[in-house]
Parts: sequence; C-alpha cells; structure tokens
Amino acid sequence: MIRVGLLGCGTVGGGVIQLLRANASYLEARVGAPIDIVRVLVRDPDKERVAELDRARLTTDPEAVLGDASLDVIVEVMGGVDPARGYLTRAIDAGKQIVTANKMLLAIHGGELLERAKKRGVDLAFEGAVGGGIPVIRVLRDALASDTIASLSGIVNGTSNYILTRMRQDGLSFEAALKEAQAKGYAEADPGLDVDGGDAAHKLVVLAMLAFGARLDGAQIPTEGIRGVEPVDHAFAERFGYVVKHLAVAKDKGGGAGAGALELRVHPALVAKDAPLANINGVLNAIAVEGRALGPCLLSGRGAGDMPTAVSVVADVVDVAIAKKSGVSGQSTRAIRLASRAVAPLADVESRYYFRFSVYDRPGVLARITGALGERGVSIEQLVQQGRGSEDVPVDVVMLTHETKESAVQAALNAIGASDYVAKPPRMIRVLS
Ligand code: NAP
Ligand code: HSE
Repeated sequence: MIRVGLLGCGTVGGGVIQLLRANASYLEARVGAPIDIVRVLVRDPDKERVAELDRARLTTDPEAVLGDASLDVIVEVMGGVDPARGYLTRAIDAGKQIVTANKMLLAIHGGELLERAKKRGVDLAFEGAVGGGIPVIRVLRDALASDTIASLSGIVNGTSNYILTRMRQDGLSFEAALKEAQAKGYAEADPGLDVDGGDAAHKLVVLAMLAFGARLDGAQIPTEGIRGVEPVDHAFAERFGYVVKHLAVAKDKGGGAGAGALELRVHPALVAKDAPLANINGVLNAIAVEGRALGPCLLSGRGAGDMPTAVSVVADVVDVAIAKKSGVSGQSTRAIRLASRAVAPLADVESRYYFRFSVYDRPGVLARITGALGERGVSIEQLVQQGRGSEDVPVDVVMLTHETKESAVQAALNAIGASDYVAKPPRMIRVLS
C-alpha cells in the first residue's frame, strides 16, 4: 500500500481524490500497490467536499499528517507560501516523497526545496504547477533533455485566457467573465494573482528552472496583467489581424551556454491570428517551445480546473510511488540542476508595439504624436483614427509600430501621456514576434 497524506482538499485536492478513486484498479496495477489517501488536512472540517472522501480521514491538525511516520507520499495542494513551505520542509526531512501543484511556493522557494530534496534523496514532483493537465514539466526535464531551449512563450494562466476569450467572443464584461472562471474552479484563492499576472510570473520561474536550469528572483520579472485590456483593444486587434492574449515569454540569447541574462516577461500581447497561440481559447493553455536542435514544439491542453490538474498531480503520485518501491527515490529531482541567472532589463528588449491614444480631435494632434514617436526613433507601421471626436470629446488613435527598443517606447509614451491633448494615459500592448 502507498499511503498518502493530502495537504488541502479544495478544487485540486477534490479532483485528486476523485481521480484516484475512479482509476484505482488501473493505478494499482501500474504502481504494483494500491494508493490510499489516509489523511487529509483542511481548515474547515464542516465544508462540503467531494462524495468520494471518507470524512473520517479529515483533520485540521497538521501534526496528524506531518507526524504520521507511516505515510509514503505528501501531496501539497493547499496553496500559498506559509505554512506550506514549513510543512514540505518537514516532510522532506522526514524522507517523504513530495508532490505539489503550488507554483507560488516553487517560484519563491523552489530552489531551496529542490536542494533539500536532493540532499535527502527524495523526489519533489510538480507537474500540476504549470499548465494544469499539460505534461510540460516532464517534456522539458526528460523528453527534451538532449537539447537546449532557445525560447518559450506560453498562455499559462487559464483564468486570464478564459476572461479574454469570453470578452472577445461573447462580449462579457471583465467582472462577469472572472466570476465564471472562479465558479469553474480556475482562479486562485486570490484572483489578483491571475488577472494581475503574478501567477503567470510564478509559472515562468518554474518553466525557466526546467528550460534553462535557471534559479531566478521572480520579483525581477516584468509583469503585467489583463485588467487594462478593454473591449476596444480586442476590436482594434481584430482589425489589424491579431488577437489579444496574456503571455509568459522567455528567451535565452546566450546560445545555451547556461550563462548571461535571460529575457523574461509576462504581459498581454497581440498575437497574429494565424499563429498557433492565437487559437488557444477559454481555459486552454499552451506553451510554444523552441529547441535549438528540435525547432518549434507546441504543448496544449486544459490549463486549470479540478480534473486536468488532478491528472498531473496523480501522475506525479504514481511516479514517486514507483520510484520509492523501486528504491530509486530522488532521481527525478537530481535531474534538475540550477544556477543563478539574471533577468535582462525590459528597457533593452525589442518588440513591435500597439498603441491606443485617447486624444482630443484638434488640428495638429496627429503630427505631435508622430513627432514625439519619431524623435525617439519609434517608427509607425499602421495607423487608424476611428470616428470623429472634437475639441472636448476624445477619439481613439491606434497604431502599430515597427521593431523598436522598449526604452524608446517608454520615453515617447511618457512624453505623449504628459501632453495636454491626451484624455487618458496611452495604452500600450506588445506584439508577439
Ligand atoms: P482551494 O480550492 O482554495 O483549496 C485549498 C485547500 O487547502 C482547501 O481545502 C483549504 O481548506 C486548504 N488549506 C488552505 N490553507 C490551509 C491551511 N493553512 N491549513 C489547512 N488547510 C489549508 O485551492 P485549489 O484551487 O485547489 O489550489 C490548490 C493549489 O493548487 C494552489 O497552490 C494552486 O495554485 C494550485 N493549482 C490550482 C489549480 C486550479 O485549477 N485550481 C491548477 C493548478 C495548480 P478548506 O477547504 O478547509 O478551506
Ligand atoms: N489559477 C490558475 C489559472 C490555476 O487560472 O491558470 C492553474 O494553475
């Protein structure tokens, strides 16, 4: 028997219990022993839970799980940094095999926990932390171990992708779409992590560990969420032949030598309609990886929710259980080798840009905008003024630029934003190239 202690029984924990029950005999045959969840830690013992849970196994006492020497595997699906970090540290030190889907914890303390797990000779598995049910961690760690990764770009937050899709395709408001995502179990306990980009940044740190062997300070990753994307931006993007997506982007311009700063950022982006990422809608996630020898590779699937995430978490339970039974615990964790890498300043990054200026419709305004851009070397590719404003009623002037340095763009937008002819701060969205 593989005895499991489950820390947390919400959306993901509930899915794990359901999936283990539904596939019990198949999983038993695969592992060579039945998998049994013997303890389940929660905060509120009276909350309604999935029907498959034997409520006698619920506890609110961490000691009942962490102090149980008979457990083989600890599965952490509580979320947050504390007390999860302390619980996993203790479980590692006690020689337990570990599974977690907690990308926030991994992004902030993943390096330290992995080192600890290596020293103790246990596995720390985290397939559920990025991309829900998409097996991206295994692909980067194992399947692409022979290659070096030049870049990756991904839609890695299901809630944001769901909201952007519902706003664009069905005209829902941001608030209504977020409520739906929460009801479906996609959002974090604090949905600000989803819509302000923090969750995607955490996932980017985890992906960079696997793709580049990078140990990063996630706080340095330039991060923007989707709150500023308005329905009018979806309409203009469509007119120019693009779709607005929320992306996590990473580039290693160091040739795979494992040194130098990495370009990393999280933000909304215009993606050309015929690009694969443009057609990843709703809760789907996708990660486009560019291997130096492999070339492009796209992984896609359901990126959030109980069952997709449970698929990844239970697969990890199976792997660490088999490793333990075979006496090779710790191998998967030893395969991850990390070295500190810096994050390149955003000012140095080059991209194409979408600008939307809300300006008063006065003679000479367009010349002043294009002048401010031209003075800083920002070259315009396309420009549209929609409708007719007046001296007092603003109108949208929207443009796409050629490839330009971010520092020049920021300087031009600051100058334009401070002028008397704009009604609100300019909106800028980068274009994926
Ligand atoms: P959730 O629905 O909020 O569930 C959290 C569970 O942990 C609840 O059962 C809660 O107990 C318990 N818990 C939280 N803090 C606790 C504490 N201090 N002591 C004891 N129990 C505690 O969250 P979730 O959506 O399942 O997410 C769990 C983790 O998986 C997070 O790290 C999240 O980022 C990650 N994740 C989520 C998804 C997704 O689609 N939802 C996908 C991938 C990864 P009560 O039930 O009593 O409140
Ligand atoms: N809140 C996360 C999302 C859950 O929406 O992508 C999956 O990690």
